Amino acid sequence: ILLSYSTSRKEAMGTRHIQNVLFLFLLGASSLTLAQNLYCHKGISMSIEEDPSSTFNWTTEKVETCDNGALCQESVLIIKSGARTAVLATKGCISEGTQSVTFAQHSPPPGIITVSYSNYCEDSLCNNQKNLVELWRPDVTPASNVSTTLHCPTCVALGTCLRAPALPCPKGTDRCYQGKLRIIGGDINSALEVKGCTSVTGCRLMSGILTIGPMWVNEMCPYQTLIQPRKIENGAPWLPISVGRFEFLLQLLLLPLLVLFS
Ligand SMILES: *[C@@H]1O[C@H](CO)[C@@H](O)[C@H](O)[C@H]1NC(C)=O
Ligand SMILES: *[C@@H]1O[C@H](CO)[C@@H](O)[C@H](O)[C@H]1NC(C)=O
Repeated sequence: ILLSYSTSRKEAMGTRHIQNVLFLFLLGASSLTLAQNLYCHKGISMSIEEDPSSTFNWTTEKVETCDNGALCQESVLIIKSGARTAVLATKGCISEGTQSVTFAQHSPPPGIITVSYSNYCEDSLCNNQKNLVELWRPDVTPASNVSTTLHCPTCVALGTCLRAPALPCPKGTDRCYQGKLRIIGGDINSALEVKGCTSVTGCRLMSGILTIGPMWVNEMCPYQTLIQPRKIENGAPWLPISVGRFEFLLQLLLLPLLVLFS
């Protein structure tokens, strides 16, 4: 309206000016249609659940308006040890990425189970997953099917475990895991402590996949030397420990780099 007003007032100034104004007007109209606002569900959740597939409610109260070129995302990290499961979830706009769905099983059952899911999508309010029913169906191992020899301190907690009872391990696991995860990104900045039975070697609950949508996970196992020694393999019982230390050092070295790049 403003532009057509100025055209009629300044008609006398010649055709060139009118052409410029018309060009500006067209430019304005086309960028209006391109820059339709994208809205995304927004919210974070960090909780410890007994049965996330039936109790976890992933609806959020808020909606946010994204900057140009952004997408919507919904991402969740789920870690189960013993009877309890940590769920860290985030929804919102994300400035970079392509439309995609990513599902990863970082550590498989039996023992500690770690999975993650991330959905990037381009339509308003498309990050609308309401629960974890489709995403989280751990095979329930019969409680009786446990090893009689191996017991591990078992817990999962936001922050620090207050207690970690030594529980018998499921068959198919052969060592104890104790680690701390720092999860940063997607409005989350949280620590998780995880202890339990596993067959995963070293400090690799995340299996080296350290990004889950906008979240970045730093896995550290400060108690690694306290873990009961594994059966001696090839006469080199020190190997798992030194590998773990190396990974720990590597992550310490990588952390400042990632901070620099983010
Ligand atoms: C989930 O929470 C929202 C509000 O936070 C509520 O309106 C909705 O009914 C809840 N859904 C279920 C299945 O409990
Ligand atoms: C118990 O574990 C063993 C070895 O992993 C497996 O072969 C067996 O099927 C399990 N038993 C039950 C009842 O699940």
